[in-house]
Amino acid sequence: GQQGDYTSILLSSPAPGVTQITLNRPKALNALNSTLFHELNAALRNLSSDESIGAVVLTGSDKAFAAGADIKEMKDKQFAEVYKGDFLAHWTELSSFRKPIIAAVSGYALGGGCELAMMCDIILASPTAVFGQPEINLGVIPGAGGTQRLTHAIGKSRAMELVLTGRNFSAQDASDWGLVSRVVSEGSVVDEAVKVAGKIAGKGKLAVQAAKEGVNSAYELSLAQGLHLERRLFHQLFATNDQKIGMTAFAEKKKAEWTHS
Ligand code: CAA
Repeated sequence: GQQGDYTSILLSSPAPGVTQITLNRPKALNALNSTLFHELNAALRNLSSDESIGAVVLTGSDKAFAAGADIKEMKDKQFAEVYKGDFLAHWTELSSFRKPIIAAVSGYALGGGCELAMMCDIILASPTAVFGQPEINLGVIPGAGGTQRLTHAIGKSRAMELVLTGRNFSAQDASDWGLVSRVVSEGSVVDEAVKVAGKIAGKGKLAVQAAKEGVNSAYELSLAQGLHLERRLFHQLFATNDQKIGMTAFAEKKKAEWTHS
């Protein structure tokens, strides 16, 4: 079945077209070690080629989305080893996943846990969520996007304060600053994320993929380049059946039956 031989993640199917990945190292507050990340990457690779899946929810436990990179695993590593092996490079695989992935965050999302959430497309937060980039307290700095994605999301002054002091911040702060799309009621963050994922999974997959590519390009390109890419993606969708299906269904007051082609 879907679960495969994974030990550090759990896979489930909470709604049609949706896979839920639950980080599952409860004793270590889901600290992100290399086994967990290799399993996560393998699961995402399988989901990429699974035509039946339209969106993914990534979550942890009530206590911790993830308390960061596994400090015990990395504490004795030497420069030559991490540099030659490009330590953490494999973490970036998630950011090239082409289907929407929604982080449902309860409890601690610290260091690599905050960075992992930020690699997702949408973050929903429980009121219990605690975010932070505490790496400065360990004698290092964020190594998987914390200085970059956090700065893009909340601005330089706030990102600087958080990265330089290592202090945590609340779900409400994360929401006020635009890091998360919203704070939901306690105990409902996974259900809410599944609802959003289910809604997305009901859309035409080609348009969804193009939409994700377009929004993500806003972080990579100049405005002129981004607008150009957006218009070309928009034009390209006129080569799909789903564009004809969607617009015809509107004109005929019917429900679109997407063919994802
Ligand atoms: N790595 C390894 N183990 C971790 C861990 C981590 N990041 N976070 C928690 N654990 C382990 C603890 O060592 C403890 O294990 P034992 O029971 O074997 O002692 C277990 O999880 C439970 O943790 P605590 O007893 O500490 O639980 P708590 O409720 O008292 O505190 C916490 C919770 C505040 C989150 C605390 O665990 C903590 O500060 N964790 C570390 C947070 C951190 O510094 N994260 C950044 C990591 S560096 C990084 O992520 C680099 C990067 O950019 C990629």
